[in-house]
Amino acid sequence: METSPAGNKGPRAADPGRRTLLQRWVQWLAAAAGVLFLYPLLRFTAFRVAPKPRLIEVPAPLPLSGVHTGHDFILFGTKEGATAVSRVCTHLGCRINYQQDKQYIECPCHQSRFTPAGVRIAGPAQKNLPTYEVTLKKDGDGRVTAYVVQL
Ligand code: FES
Repeated sequence: METSPAGNKGPRAADPGRRTLLQRWVQWLAAAAGVLFLYPLLRFTAFRVAPKPRLIEVPAPLPLSGVHTGHDFILFGTKEGATAVSRVCTHLGCRINYQQDKQYIECPCHQSRFTPAGVRIAGPAQKNLPTYEVTLKKDGDGRVTAYVVQL
């Protein structure tokens, strides 16, 4: 066995480089483990990403009734513009329908009723229907070509 000129450490004279490399690897692994542990915790507690709004385009003109029933919303075309309300009942979440002859929205499950503006009239539902923003797409002549509902 050889001894180094500096002392009696022998082949360990090259170890500080290897030791430093191992320490850095351990530090990186600890940091990665910390991130992997904290990420779900932070997502669960505070840092919720706002969902991206969905834009649904309904081509104009609307039917003669002035009402378009989509999967998630009911769109009412008026002279002033358009309004849209959710199709999910605020009682227990059934899908609601517009009653053209009675001029109100009714839930088939427990018969909650709402105005076309989404205001609760009767029934077990206690809240009004959520409303959605509707933007009108117009051509160069000012005619409405489509209704864009932002869910
Ligand atoms: S779910 Fe609509 S009234 Fe009960």
